[in-house]
Amino acid sequence: MQIYAINGSPRKTWNTATILQNVLDGFAESREDALTEMIDLYSLDYKGCVSCFECKRLGGPSYGRCAVRDGLGALLPRILQADALVIGSPIYFGDVSGMLRAFLERLLFPCLVYDKAHSSLAPRKIPTAFVYTMNLPRAAMEERGYPQRLAAMESYVGRLFGSAPRLLHVCDTLQFKDYSRYKMEIFSAEEKARQRELEFPADCRRARELGAALAADAAGEA
Ligand SMILES: Cc1cc2nc3c(=O)[nH]c(=O)nc-3n(C[C@H](O)[C@H](O)[C@H](O)COP(=O)(O)O)c2cc1C
Repeated sequence: MQIYAINGSPRKTWNTATILQNVLDGFAESREDALTEMIDLYSLDYKGCVSCFECKRLGGPSYGRCAVRDGLGALLPRILQADALVIGSPIYFGDVSGMLRAFLERLLFPCLVYDKAHSSLAPRKIPTAFVYTMNLPRAAMEERGYPQRLAAMESYVGRLFGSAPRLLHVCDTLQFKDYSRYKMEIFSAEEKARQRELEFPADCRRARELGAALAADAAGEA
């Protein structure tokens, strides 16, 4: 049973990647036949949708598929055949990272049919999840309406893959090890260190539980 984790952070070992790895581990712990793979978007060479509409051209060779041949060309069809998908991003200016946004344009647009039924050309209905990591504490995240802003992309993923994605918001993350070396006076280094020591492990546990829940969803046990 295959799950892919899409890492929309440029950092391959920091908050988002760590949370995603915990989701993969939770998935693997629940299934003997689990196959897990992390895909680091920032290691790939690609652009967002170029609006060629080849994926919508009736009778065309790329109908329902992305026609662009670049670093995502071979990957997108592989991802669409997965049994589960977890998508992770740091929050940049209140939204997902630019690389994740570009990836989602390329993954989702070929699956989207402009008909009254909002049909999907995704070859499989699969369970999905979004995990977000961000600097803001939870109350400030709610106050600024991040969950509402992020809901638009989540609803496309839900519609195209058959069910609403599971969600995990990881707040108040540590941005770097030594706050004294950067101009960041509005943050308390002590508070961030405490958060990292006490809250982040709990977030990692939640991520493992999320992985287990995705495995159950994929096995039709939910
Ligand atoms: C360009 C940039 C923009 C950011 N914008 C926000 C933001 O709008 N809200 C927020 O809470 N955190 C913001 N952050 C903080 C990151 O979302 C946060 O540190 C995240 O956990 C980093 O993930 P990573 O460790 O996987 O790279 C921003 C960081 C960067 C580099």
